[in-house]
Amino acid sequence: MQIIRSVDELIDYVADQKNRHISIGLVPTMGALHEGHLSLVERAVSENGCVIVSVFVNPTQFNNPEDLRTYPRTEEADVKLLAKAGASAVFIPAVEEVYPDGAKSDKVYDLGSVAEVMEGKFRPGHFQGVAQIVSRLFILSRPDRAYFGEKDFQQIAVIKRMTETEGLNVSIVECPICRADDGLALSSRNTLLSPDQRLRAPLIYKALRESVEYSKSHSVRATHDMVVEQIDAVPEMKVEYFEIVDARTLLPVEEWEESPRIQGCITVFNGKVRLIDNICYRPV
Ligand code: PAJ
Repeated sequence: MQIIRSVDELIDYVADQKNRHISIGLVPTMGALHEGHLSLVERAVSENGCVIVSVFVNPTQFNNPEDLRTYPRTEEADVKLLAKAGASAVFIPAVEEVYPDGAKSDKVYDLGSVAEVMEGKFRPGHFQGVAQIVSRLFILSRPDRAYFGEKDFQQIAVIKRMTETEGLNVSIVECPICRADDGLALSSRNTLLSPDQRLRAPLIYKALRESVEYSKSHSVRATHDMVVEQIDAVPEMKVEYFEIVDARTLLPVEEWEESPRIQGCITVFNGKVRLIDNICYRPV
């Protein structure tokens, strides 16, 4: 596996793959890799001749400086895991390499209404930063396919929109959520949980799962309230938002009959650690 630290080196590496007509799969990550990331890499390896994984904690998508400061960084372990998973190259640039003029926004991306709700509302500027780094990675690595996890359900919708409006010819591959045995969605931030917080964290998915059954005989509002009440009753846990939305527009639904595909998207503070998860209500 090739370790690439500079933009110029990445451009040369990609040109070489293109000259040899090798298909490129890109897996963008912020490192602190776990099985969830590796499931994306494995899928990419099975579908492309060359797989590039980026490991870059992108400062422009953090609206909270404390979150950026404490974000876990495990470069050495990440490189080992990627080599084992069969990645062809890892792109690990320094911040100055990606943002020579300083880590600030370069322009305003047209992300439409999917970027305004939920994460867009609670993390102002977050999706602009995501669009900035992902479009940059797409332009530099010219992938045929790029792989994203459904754990960040809204992020996929935003990236699809960005890919369209920026005219980038990349096919976006959506991959299912990987969970720990106890149901907790794997996340780099899970390592920041105290032992007690980690023990309680699976209650998020437990409430979501129970709510799917509950939703079959209850209204959208009642299902929403049941989830929030269950989670807020757990010590140190507080729901930031829980929205039951049309999976395409990401706008809230009021009736189960309103849309053929309905998703519940949640963000919970477990102590100071912000965890996100989602579940599908329709089709069940
Ligand atoms: P990061 O949180 O590192 O996630 C990288 C990719 O792994 C994302 O597509 C995310 O949805 C996926 N992923 C994370 N946990 C997962 C899980 N438990 N199951 C399946 N997939 C999972 O998302 C980002 O980084 C950044 O915003 C990025 C797209 C790299 C731009 O900086």
